[in-house]
Amino acid sequence: MKLKDCLKALVTVAALALPMTAVAAPAPIVIKFSHVVAQHTPKGQAADYFKKLAEERTKGRVKVEVYPNSQLYKDKEEMEALQLGAVQMLAPSLAKFAPLGVKEFEVFDLPFIFDNYQELHKVTQGPVGAKLLKKLEPKGILGLAYWDNGFKVMSANKPIKNLADFRGQKMRIQSSKVLDSQMRSVGSIPQVLAFSEVYQALQTGVVDGTENPPSNLYTQKMHEVQKYVTLSDHGYLGYAVIVNKKFWQGLPADIRTTLEGCMKDATKYANDVAKKDNDEALAAVKKSGRSQLIALTPQERAAWKKAMDKAHKDNMGRIGADIVKEVYAATGYNAN
Ligand code: LMR
Repeated sequence: MKLKDCLKALVTVAALALPMTAVAAPAPIVIKFSHVVAQHTPKGQAADYFKKLAEERTKGRVKVEVYPNSQLYKDKEEMEALQLGAVQMLAPSLAKFAPLGVKEFEVFDLPFIFDNYQELHKVTQGPVGAKLLKKLEPKGILGLAYWDNGFKVMSANKPIKNLADFRGQKMRIQSSKVLDSQMRSVGSIPQVLAFSEVYQALQTGVVDGTENPPSNLYTQKMHEVQKYVTLSDHGYLGYAVIVNKKFWQGLPADIRTTLEGCMKDATKYANDVAKKDNDEALAAVKKSGRSQLIALTPQERAAWKKAMDKAHKDNMGRIGADIVKEVYAATGYNAN
């Protein structure tokens, strides 16, 4: 090839390469999704499912980095990180919103307020649920969805059946005043601890017992350091999926719409797996033989409900009587 032809060829190659450089894909939008539980839990699986959908449906324009098991932040820190924009998405338990200044979410912690998932969904999928999520906006947070977990068991190193069994037991709780009242109403001593600290606190005797749905109890191996698990279903634990408002509203509109669709589908997935995961976790606890499972008679359970109703009365003002009454109307709660 002559020099002239060589140069011509080079120019052609360069011209072809140029537009390729110019249209190189922009860096993906990164969503850091931090949470405190294990991957094989309702929340852990739903977070991973959201990641899968978001990355597929945006064709890689969005990358979701899921950080489970308090890897990145513990309970309190993750809320601060979201507000500062260090992470973009969380799904904290509904019991953890009061430190943000939104005490109304503690309505979900009221003992025995929901008898089953159907009653719960009347609230989370109804007008009260939507109204509660709106309360997050002045805090720079948007609430996208509620994700189910399940109904709590009570664990300890002594069998807890009758009210007298609670007396003097140091019980780990989440940072909710309603849960504090619930534990005091039966004579136990509540202690707030971050979720990541619970196993060790139980193992070393810093606390005697705790409450959580079986999926959390099992995946954190709490049953290995608790001799008894009472199947009380005395309260509910679930989540609100929340995002940094500025980040979410700053997304390109088409991306935001796609992500909203992914969240809708991940929510259905979360709520579909929640009961199954908890049933399986309970079966695994039983099979392990590490903790003894205790059933309550209807009379014993009624006695818990009656005593714990004090947590309703004492927190009516804190949560807001209007909210509590709206939930009572939806679920038909009655202390007796
Ligand atoms: C707990 O702290 O016990 C739970 O909120 C953990 C969780 O996120 O399920």
